[in-house]
Amino acid sequence: TILILDFGSQYSHLITRRCREHHVYAELLPCTTKLSEVNFKPKGIILSGSPYSVYDKDAPHVDPAVFEAGVPILGICYGLQEMAWNMGGTVTKCDHREYGFAEIEISKIGGEAAADTLFKGLGNQMQVWMSHGDQLSALPKDFHVIGHTNSAPYAAIAHNSKPCYGIQFHPEVTHSPRGKEVISRFILDICKCRPNWTMEEFIGKEIARIRDICGPKGRVIGAVSGGVDSTVAAKLMHEAIGDRFHAIMVDNGVLRMNEAEQVHEMLKKNLGVNLTIVDASELFLSRLEGVEDPERKRKIIGNTFINVFEEQATLIESAAENEEKQGDGSEDSKKGHVEWLLQGTLYPDVIESISFKGPSATIKTHHNVGGLLKDMKLKLIEPLRELFKDEVRALGRLLSIPATLVQRHPFPGPGLAIRILGAVTREQVKILQQADSIYIEEIRKAGLYNDISQAFAVLLPVKAVGVMGDQRTYEQVIALRAVQSEDFMTADWYVFPPEILKRISSRITNEVAGINRVTYDISSKPPATVEWL
Ligand code: XMP
Repeated sequence: TILILDFGSQYSHLITRRCREHHVYAELLPCTTKLSEVNFKPKGIILSGSPYSVYDKDAPHVDPAVFEAGVPILGICYGLQEMAWNMGGTVTKCDHREYGFAEIEISKIGGEAAADTLFKGLGNQMQVWMSHGDQLSALPKDFHVIGHTNSAPYAAIAHNSKPCYGIQFHPEVTHSPRGKEVISRFILDICKCRPNWTMEEFIGKEIARIRDICGPKGRVIGAVSGGVDSTVAAKLMHEAIGDRFHAIMVDNGVLRMNEAEQVHEMLKKNLGVNLTIVDASELFLSRLEGVEDPERKRKIIGNTFINVFEEQATLIESAAENEEKQGDGSEDSKKGHVEWLLQGTLYPDVIESISFKGPSATIKTHHNVGGLLKDMKLKLIEPLRELFKDEVRALGRLLSIPATLVQRHPFPGPGLAIRILGAVTREQVKILQQADSIYIEEIRKAGLYNDISQAFAVLLPVKAVGVMGDQRTYEQVIALRAVQSEDFMTADWYVFPPEILKRISSRITNEVAGINRVTYDISSKPPATVEWL
């Protein structure tokens, strides 16, 4: 395992991903973690970047024990400065903040010395991505330069005898094309980690772990949505404990077209998961009546979801008790109580909750089912909490979940309610469902679905004038959104071939009653967000 200490850089999670892509398990912990609190023995430590300067009064600093741990260390950006500063180097402010591409000249490789290994086989020069306002202006004792750029004489440094390295650039971002190789040199060649973190290994271990914590009788319930995470989590639970896992799908009236039917088909019929679908659309839509404020919509949906889910859980629990009473007393008939709640938490959510935060603010409150635990006496089971989305997808494939589902775009918990910009009614939901379904169908037909990270239609609460035959029309507008994004923290709008947009627009205006105009959203995140609400 590689330990990554997070000083609050927006790229910290990417370092973790890059290690995992080389099949080396890596964990991100806040920079304030004491080495003695880490419950595994790292084979290497990476110090991340940070929005701070090492000499800031409130700057975060690493536990000095890290430098005495006797394992290889790689400092990235602030991590380099922190390491050098700790060891007596000098860090100063740059004249200009350096942000963007730079060319690094790699110092001549002398032989097989440890210091040469980081850039081994990478040639004499490489393009890298820089983002820093400070830089090293004097080397710490016993270090030497292994790379420089026009503006940074100490862009990469190494200790003369220990496996300690510092690099000013960010190897974890895709803008450093050979960054992956630098990370691979560090974790595989220098730390000597074995690349044995694979989903094949994970499945076996995780099923055993689930069986172990649930015991021979424990029952688990969990919400499913039709999305990748809940489907993979449900299938994994089913593999581990069969029908003692009970999935619940709540139809909140703001799902995509035919979603409940499709989930039934997939989870129950194809994957054999024990599933109950509850149609609670009346309740949700009545509580949403007249509500336009996005955060209120989120709150209502979150709370109503909890009410409906709890009611179902109680029904399942009493059915289980009955089954136990009527049983013949054999071990098999004693299936036990519902003790656990399955949650499809992924590693980015874990990182979000533990990572070191500089000044940051909540932009939107994302709906999740965390509230369930407050009232229900359930313990949480989170089989995906160590995984990134791409790992969940790989796991899904191994569990024989069809590719179309595994590659599905994310869909927000509050569903179409946050894509209907005005008040939510059954009629508005229907219009949006139809437009969205045509949009996605055409994207799939054009073979572009997997090229796009997320695509959906939005229903605007405005009316515009149009013409049909000789008649003037006065109807609503659909906005189409499609983005490409690595992690949804930032996103670029997707450039469609014009003829595809033409076909989609013509189908929507012809086939969806109530729509006479279609627009395409050309805003990136930031400053826009992915969803409109
Ligand atoms: P934003 O709009 O914040 O979206 O740029 C980033 C990603 O988060 C999803 N999203 C949500 N997911 N509940 C969710 O479960 C929410 O309330 C919510 N709001 C946004 C959005 O679809 C995108 O993938």
